[in-house]
Amino acid sequence: MSNPRYQSPKGVHDILPDDHLYFSFIKKVVRHHCRRAGFRRISTPIFEDVEVFKRSIGESSDIVEKEMFLFESKSGKKYALKPEGTAGVVRAYLEHGLSNLPKPVEFYYIEPHFRYNRPQKGRYRQFHQFGFEVLGESDPAIDAQVIYISHRINYDLGIADRLTLQLNTIGSSEDRKQYREDLVNYYTGKERSLCEDCKRRMYENPMRLLDCKEEDCQILASMAPKLESVLSEESKEHFSLLQEYLTELGVKYELNPTLVRGLDYYTHTVFEFWSKKEGSQNATGGGGRYDGLVELMGGESTPAIGYAAGMERIVEYMKEAGIRPPNKDKVEVFVAQLGLVAKKKSLSLINELRNLGINTVGAIGKSSMKGQMGLADKLNAKYSLILGQIEVQEGTIILRNMEKGSQEIVPYEGIVEKMKTLLGEKKLSSKKLWEE
Ligand code: HAM
Repeated sequence: MSNPRYQSPKGVHDILPDDHLYFSFIKKVVRHHCRRAGFRRISTPIFEDVEVFKRSIGESSDIVEKEMFLFESKSGKKYALKPEGTAGVVRAYLEHGLSNLPKPVEFYYIEPHFRYNRPQKGRYRQFHQFGFEVLGESDPAIDAQVIYISHRINYDLGIADRLTLQLNTIGSSEDRKQYREDLVNYYTGKERSLCEDCKRRMYENPMRLLDCKEEDCQILASMAPKLESVLSEESKEHFSLLQEYLTELGVKYELNPTLVRGLDYYTHTVFEFWSKKEGSQNATGGGGRYDGLVELMGGESTPAIGYAAGMERIVEYMKEAGIRPPNKDKVEVFVAQLGLVAKKKSLSLINELRNLGINTVGAIGKSSMKGQMGLADKLNAKYSLILGQIEVQEGTIILRNMEKGSQEIVPYEGIVEKMKTLLGEKKLSSKKLWEE
């Protein structure tokens, strides 16, 4: 019987080298913008006490109700793989006294997350998010800045014109108390037209009924009372100032009164980036204010806002837009050799070139010259350096320009410098990798 072959679990993917070009590029753009804005990177654990998520995201949210990967430790403690980043960041902020830092305290993260949902295009069980959280400031200008950076990242990734920014306010928790009552009154008597999820949520969290994807529920939602009617003057002022700031920053948005988001911690501003493509339901990213969350998690009342985007979805949109990220993995020099002495010499030549920051590959395991040059072709190497017995004896080396198909015999002495000149000065040259 042959040995078994395994596959990755359902909804979970390998990121193969070609896709890593996209992931690396996204990370680079995100890091660039976050650093420019003074955000500092944070990583929270892959799993947390399940209560961290229950308390913050909300017991009646889809995520907590059905989408968490749960497990127990041997001592019976209940954990969940993190389905999103905000809850863990707030837990860390409180646990490590980061609230003592000058406000606003700004973090960013680039991490894997896990949701046990039905896998489909753009929806996975393990996915990667980048995100940022700004804690300690309630001014709507901060909302505008967070939205601007999110938009600017989309722009630099080449996908901004394929997306629309959907914007709404869900008011303060006070505003929503009244609104909840209005919604329950509206839906009372209409239960039979609601899907099972909505029937159940009608009393627990009636606002969730507004973004149900079932057709009958959507029809009812479109006629439901609007939150706008119960917004306080303060909430209205916050939202209208935000819109003014966005206009000032040149960020286009669409007001969408049905946008409520699926996590319970939001207050006031909520936003998502949607595809302009007909029928596409997958947002690339979303966020909003969560002014009550820090207090709910045991801290002092602290206004906050954040955003997170799905990297797999962004990669998909970049591919659709024909964006090719720069390939820093390209082989620049291929070193071929024949004979033991040449092999020994080529070992140190390869390292010298690499230490100068030149991407260098040598097929030291292959013996035939034909096989080695075939590999150089397949790798699309820019140059080949060929060292045979004659060259070793004469103190020379063959330099082949693979694109032009031309070659010359040059002195071995000084070949490293010559390659450096041909390929252009590299930043790394003599510097250590960690030196700025
Ligand atoms: P979210 O809308 O649940 O928000 O997720 C943000 C983004 O993560 C989504 O727009 C989507 O691109 C991606 N995403 C979510 N689930 C999946 C999945 N199953 N497969 C692929 N991609 C997915 C949050 O997570 C909030 N923590 C955002 C936030 C930060 N709000 C305030 N601060």
